[in-house]
Amino acid sequence: MRYKQLVSGLIAAQLEGIDEAAILELIEYPPNPEMGDLSLPCFKLSKALRKSPQAIADGLKEALKHEALERVDSVSGYLNIYLDKARFASELTGEILAAGPAYGSRDIGQGGTVVIDYSSPNIAKPFHIGHLRSTVIGNALKKIHRFLGYEVVGVNHLGDWGTQFGKLIVAFTRWGDEAKVEADGIDELLRLYVKFHDEAEKEPALDEEARSWFVRIEHGDEEAIRLWKWFVSISLKEFKKIYDLLGVEFESYAGESFYNDKMDAVVSELKEKNLLVEDDGAMLVRLDDYNMSPALILKKDGSSLYHTRDVAAALYRKQTYGFVKSLYVTDYAQNLHFQQLFKIVELMGYDWAGQMAHVPFGRVSLEGMSLSTRKGNVIKLEDLLLQAIDKTRDIIDSKNPNMPNKDEVARQVGVGAIIFNDLYANRIKDVVFSWEEALNFEGESGPYVQYTHARVCSVLRKANGSDSIELPEGVTAIDPEKLLNPEAVGVLRELSRFGERVEQAMLKLEPSMISRYLIDVAQSFNRFYHECPILVDDPAVRASRLALVKCVQITLANGLGLIGLQTPEKI
Ligand code: ARG
Repeated sequence: MRYKQLVSGLIAAQLEGIDEAAILELIEYPPNPEMGDLSLPCFKLSKALRKSPQAIADGLKEALKHEALERVDSVSGYLNIYLDKARFASELTGEILAAGPAYGSRDIGQGGTVVIDYSSPNIAKPFHIGHLRSTVIGNALKKIHRFLGYEVVGVNHLGDWGTQFGKLIVAFTRWGDEAKVEADGIDELLRLYVKFHDEAEKEPALDEEARSWFVRIEHGDEEAIRLWKWFVSISLKEFKKIYDLLGVEFESYAGESFYNDKMDAVVSELKEKNLLVEDDGAMLVRLDDYNMSPALILKKDGSSLYHTRDVAAALYRKQTYGFVKSLYVTDYAQNLHFQQLFKIVELMGYDWAGQMAHVPFGRVSLEGMSLSTRKGNVIKLEDLLLQAIDKTRDIIDSKNPNMPNKDEVARQVGVGAIIFNDLYANRIKDVVFSWEEALNFEGESGPYVQYTHARVCSVLRKANGSDSIELPEGVTAIDPEKLLNPEAVGVLRELSRFGERVEQAMLKLEPSMISRYLIDVAQSFNRFYHECPILVDDPAVRASRLALVKCVQITLANGLGLIGLQTPEKI
């Protein structure tokens, strides 16, 4: 990024009426090193400068001089810029070694607050694989924003309110058993819920009974609240097991029920602002003018809905956190819901409505089979994670049976495999989960990146003759001339792009930009590792290569951390 900026500045100084920022936008990384390290497609400036691309490039070629540049070429309308590699190597390694865990971070956010609503599973329902994707995407976005200088508030907007809790109470009081619920948790609650639906088909009076139980919850009836709270705590206990495995935390667990006492105000405000209309006894906001179906705010019986609680939550979050950005991470099936929500807040006259954004993502299926909760074929998430850990343990057992703390490493790598698999594709794409791909240590997987990181650590340990992965004493004065072979330059080039990738991932709300970047870094390192022996006798070569290795370790660790993966030093 620094070089991009430098070059943009130099170019802008030569071109009248074009500013540096515009050039910065245009500068590209050429697809292969023969075409330079950076390149400016001059045809994009042709109109503004009233000159042919070739003439622009020729002119710049003559004018551009700087000690950081080795040479500049003009080739069919492109200005190709070649950096002075030794200087590049020495500046970049210096920067990475000095920054360490902060390498790639910047203070773009300047302390502004970002609220991220993610995971948000439903009480008494299984935590499904869609919630997993929300959890890992949200967690990555959280870390990325923090790395870039934002305060982040992670909110778990639990689905802990609604008429289903009335049904659950009916089912529990009729057919339930306290000890069984304690023992089997959500499985048993789900069984009761399904049983309710089966029975209510035969005995419609049950629906009425369920409604009245829910009214009792809403009115704070002691017994009703006790049972509801119990369902919540049983469910949370299970969710927290998954969060612990994933290493995910939330700043707030304010779920839908949190907004109970804030809903009347919202409804009055909507009324005052003439946004509510009555329709067959129910109250809704019409959105025909915006090509959307109406958003239901109050049911006939006066009870609130998912939308009502989301409007209340949006207002509450703005008021409480003063966010500069408020994100909602859910699967794309909720696109309409969020477009409606943002429109309602805008129609209420809040100019910050544009600070809210939906971060939709695609569905996950397990090699063809859909993981829906409605039918019976539910893959329980905890099982999926535990299976990943077991399978990883088997792989470690066969490859490296004497490794210390195998269990811990199997956990880090197994869980990493699942997280990475969810973050590797563009988030909007549907993902087909495959064990083979997720756990392939040589493929484009989490284990591959973690394993590369461990390999890097092992080189550093050998150099130290100890367990330390720091750069050995005395390896500070590197000789950049020793890092000019194509493999080393290839690694340096990748490393230099980290900060920019992090920023893009933040702007596009796309953690996959970092996962893919990590694969590129790992591949370039492995190429270097196979071509260039590191622990050689020549002290200058050894020191310089080791410094590069340490830079790779830092970048991989920082990047893995941003997407929520652990970085074991031995695998
Ligand atoms: N509980 C919802 C679900 O499982 C997701 C909630 C997303 N957040 C929100 N503020 N609506 O689909």
